[in-house]
Amino acid sequence: MDIVIKDNYDSMSNYAAQKIAGIIKDKPDCVLGLATGGTPIGTYRELIKMHQQGLDLSAVRTFNLDEYFGVGIDLTKPYDQDQSYARFMHEELLKHVNINPQNSHIPDGRTNDPAGFCKWYEEEIKKAGGIDLQLLGIGGDGHWAFNEPGSSLMSRTRIEALSKQTLDDNYESFYKKAGVKREQMPHFAITMGIGTILEARNIMMLANGSQKADVVALALEGPLTSQITATAVQLHSGAITVVLDNESASKLKGLQHYRDVANLKKEYGLE
Ligand code: PGA
Repeated sequence: MDIVIKDNYDSMSNYAAQKIAGIIKDKPDCVLGLATGGTPIGTYRELIKMHQQGLDLSAVRTFNLDEYFGVGIDLTKPYDQDQSYARFMHEELLKHVNINPQNSHIPDGRTNDPAGFCKWYEEEIKKAGGIDLQLLGIGGDGHWAFNEPGSSLMSRTRIEALSKQTLDDNYESFYKKAGVKREQMPHFAITMGIGTILEARNIMMLANGSQKADVVALALEGPLTSQITATAVQLHSGAITVVLDNESASKLKGLQHYRDVANLKKEYGLE
């Protein structure tokens, strides 16, 4: 596992975007797993800048991690009145770059057949050849996507009930400003499973801010547990990069070691 610690959010975002751009240049039709939330916004901003400077995403294929159940994009509403993750992706990345809309997949929160949809989504990922790089944040409750505490570490794409902490966090970050009452928030989501995520060839997990420091330490250094589904990072067999800022890294027991290893890698040209 590569643990990269950057000084602040902007340098974390820049590093993550450079990595993603490298994959796109090596494999123009790569399959990217994309995430929503406050964490990746800076990474998307950097990718948009790179696109404006010539990065071509026309052959890139994307699969998003999750969507609220019962919620769908509504472009007739202002952005702050539409909390769908489809809208988030549209506003924060897709409308600014040349990803072919037919190549971008986001779980359909308005499906009438959730079980059938989840099966189809898994099949589409397989048909695309699997995910080359899965981008992930980490929730305050330790979730990856909406794999809430207690989700099996082998789980597949399915409907999942949101934890109280996720409802609280997402209410504060997204729903409150739209004037939605806490009890009116969606309580379920369609999410890729941990088993689905672990099949990605590369994983890049991002976290920033002191409010994530405890959960990052538990995910990277604590015992493997379905109570913190991001501990599955310890199970992945492919290449893992965890990109943190100083604040989110501050509670890691091995902090000095990770910094030393990063410096040694530079010295040995192993980056
Ligand atoms: P955040 O959410 O980026 O808004 O902190 C992360 C997550 O829930 O995975």
